[in-house]
Amino acid sequence: MNRFDEYRKKTFTPFWNNFNTKPKKSPAISLFFKSIKKNLKKFVGIKIKIESYKNLKIKDETFLSYQISDSIINYRNNLIVDELIKYLNKIKIKFKKNDIKKFVEDYCRIFKNTPIYDMGSGFGFNEGLFLFCIIKTLKPTLVIESGIMKGFTTYLIDAATNQNCKILCYDISFENIEYRSRKATYFKYDISENPPNLKNQKVLAFWDDHTSQLERLKFSIKNKIKFNIFDDDLSFLNFHSDGWPPIPSINMLFELKKNIIKDDTVGWISRGRKGEIWLKKIKYKEAIKNINEHKIFPNLFSITGYQNHSQCSFVKLK
Ligand SMILES: C[S@@+](CC[C@H](N)C(=O)[O-])C[C@H]1O[C@@H](n2cnc3c(N)ncnc32)[C@H](O)[C@@H]1O
Repeated sequence: MNRFDEYRKKTFTPFWNNFNTKPKKSPAISLFFKSIKKNLKKFVGIKIKIESYKNLKIKDETFLSYQISDSIINYRNNLIVDELIKYLNKIKIKFKKNDIKKFVEDYCRIFKNTPIYDMGSGFGFNEGLFLFCIIKTLKPTLVIESGIMKGFTTYLIDAATNQNCKILCYDISFENIEYRSRKATYFKYDISENPPNLKNQKVLAFWDDHTSQLERLKFSIKNKIKFNIFDDDLSFLNFHSDGWPPIPSINMLFELKKNIIKDDTVGWISRGRKGEIWLKKIKYKEAIKNINEHKIFPNLFSITGYQNHSQCSFVKLK
């Protein structure tokens, strides 16, 4: 028989343990405190937030809600492996099938041990999984990371690369950094100001700096960086979702090539601010010819239960 909890606005059903809680029979006291809170906010402008001590440190939902049953984790990981194999085939990267399951299991362990629990606007579980497994598969000798913020993705790159791999980390500010890799060298400027020496290296570049992806693409062409991962590779349809999109994104270049957008100027509203893109200024035709593969990471919500934090792509140059 179902029971109804007016206070929590929940229906307790007999099909699961309802988190071992019982419906509140007499919610009067709780409702009293709720009304005080509401009135303080309404009339005095004070907002009270009650958070448990444990939750103060752990902010991302990923660390608060997750699977613990081995059989479900195994079922899920097999489905993740299928998605990865499909993706690696699409981007034409060679891999050993047996390695992929191990990469996924390693990733889950590494993700759990992260030193950063609040990724904010950075990568989440799903994008991190692809970043980690692509690096494990490609085995680069040098990784460029542009856009570090707290260092969550640096942590994943560090874990995915072998001991001799160099990591070059670029950001225009390290104010928010919480994790530093011992393998990494840090540069507090834009990579184009002083490009690194990449001779005789197998390079993968990870671009998550919200600057023009066309400029990053041109940088990679010039410096012969074959393997690239672009975060926030949004299209003209969904770029308004980003507070500071990397205009033009790689996706936008392909849309421009298809001649879908007929206007000279594209406007949009982002959090109350009006933006405009001037399409005539985007000279992309030569650069786009150098792209061999361009594929967006799939959305894994139906398998992992975590929303993708962004739209990320892999770009392989000719
Ligand atoms: C979304 S955050 C990076 C998140 C990080 N990759 C993660 O997922 O953990 C974007 C970062 O790009 C940096 N940034 C902005 N302009 C940049 C530039 N020209 N070169 C390198 N980094 C830049 C910002 O300072 C910010 O730290």
